[in-house]
Amino acid sequence: MTAAKKGIFYGIGVGPGDPDLITVKAARVLDSCDVVITPTKKMGKPSIAFEIVKSHITDLSKVLEMNFPMISLSAERDVLEKQWQENADEIELLLNEGKNVVFITLGDPMVFSTYSYVMEYLLKRNIEVVTLSGVPSFCNLGAQLNIPLTQGEESLAIVAMTQPVEEIRAILDAHQNIVVMKVSANNAWMAQELEARGLEKSFVLVSNIGMANQQVVRDIDVLKAKIPYLSTLLIKKNYPLQ
Ligand SMILES: C[S@@+](CC[C@H](N)C(=O)[O-])C[C@H]1O[C@@H](n2cnc3c(N)ncnc32)[C@H](O)[C@@H]1O
Repeated sequence: MTAAKKGIFYGIGVGPGDPDLITVKAARVLDSCDVVITPTKKMGKPSIAFEIVKSHITDLSKVLEMNFPMISLSAERDVLEKQWQENADEIELLLNEGKNVVFITLGDPMVFSTYSYVMEYLLKRNIEVVTLSGVPSFCNLGAQLNIPLTQGEESLAIVAMTQPVEEIRAILDAHQNIVVMKVSANNAWMAQELEARGLEKSFVLVSNIGMANQQVVRDIDVLKAKIPYLSTLLIKKNYPLQ
């Protein structure tokens, strides 16, 4: 007797905000799959990724919410990993039933995404995994504002503001163009660092890219105050941003 065919695990990047930015392939898989997992930081709290793609899912009854606390919100790495393992177990059960399961994620699945950890657990269990790219938030920032991220021989660094400040200083020294993600983690420090380097007019901050409440900030004093979690900073040393 041959073993029953297992389902495929798909990771789909839904882009940063505009529902029209998902790929044709992602829209097709979203509608034809058996289960769509929407990861949420807190059960019952609406998932931003789901809000972006829900218009692409005809049968909303197949949507399954799953709790994924975020690294920065939890001091206990082992608690976090236990939760991810349990989620991977639950997903594996669905796949063993032959169901095709989609995990949706904001932006691109391979850029600072919880999806990548779940994917690693499932790959170790010999599960077929297909990852579909999405538009990363920082790429859409450049597109929305008609600002090139890199030109010619320039370099581009992508950092998270949760990295140690010494690492961020070294990156600011080394590159012409720097994207700072999760910037709300320490934006006041970054504003002061830009001023200290004479770069207070060499940045643009965009919050809630592609959403109705998108905000573009070029004022260094605004960068010092509280900003939304969905904010990305672009620093360009050799380009007129302001
Ligand atoms: C956990 S990371 C997810 C990154 C995502 N996978 C991507 O490709 O953009 C969250 C960070 O991504 C950035 N981000 C994601 N969506 C955004 C949006 N709509 N507007 C601004 N920044 C966004 C912010 O820097 C935020 O703190």
